[in-house]
Amino acid sequence: MLGLIGGTALERLALADSRQRSVTTSWGAPSAPLTLGRLGTAQIAWLNRHGDSHSIPPHRVNYRANIAALAEQGVEGIIALNAVGGITPAMTTGSLVLPHQLIDYTWGREHSFCDTDSEPVLHVDFTDPYDRALRQRLLAAALSAGLELVDGAVHAVVQGPRLETAAEVLRLERDGCDIVGMTGMPEAGLARELGVPYASLAVVVNPAAGKSKAEITLEEIGRVMAAAAPRLLTLLEACCQ
Ligand code: HPA
Repeated sequence: MLGLIGGTALERLALADSRQRSVTTSWGAPSAPLTLGRLGTAQIAWLNRHGDSHSIPPHRVNYRANIAALAEQGVEGIIALNAVGGITPAMTTGSLVLPHQLIDYTWGREHSFCDTDSEPVLHVDFTDPYDRALRQRLLAAALSAGLELVDGAVHAVVQGPRLETAAEVLRLERDGCDIVGMTGMPEAGLARELGVPYASLAVVVNPAAGKSKAEITLEEIGRVMAAAAPRLLTLLEACCQ
């Protein structure tokens, strides 16, 4: 079974034989019930990160419960969908991107399972935050489906929910970041703590602040995401053959 985490404007996926399963974990309830079903030949556990009615902002997501809930289903890996802003020129609006690195700028989030006196302290290796084999699987799927997928990007994860200032984006760029989103961490780190392979599949939904003269609006982000959704679905289906 493969875990899929849906993000902003990526909250629907038609799964065959789908059913809902409400679960809870020792870290609390995940953002929504899991939707279990089939995509291609793969069993899928789908979870909406922001809840089924998109009411949970990035800093209030219970990332620990979400990752624990998927891990407890026995998923072999998690593909996390992330809507992001594009910083560097190759990250054009509408492109699908497979980041290979991240920088965590978030704060104040419950970011570790090492949080009780009885748990051993883990210092997991996070040199490569995304799972190599899962990334290769997505790249091979893109190739077989004839889809463009940008191979490699540094994913800046910021606190939100507001968007950045132009100066903040310039700083992210100087730090070496290519794309910016709000939900990639602590998700990736928590998956690593539980030993669950994890990859982020990002969709560039707007030029980051200061990278275009146009104001960033939710309407425009929704339009870009709607236009990208069929490609995303084709890619996920190819990944599940
Ligand atoms: N910045 C941060 N998060 C985002 C953006 C952005 O420009 N677009 C979508 N998520």
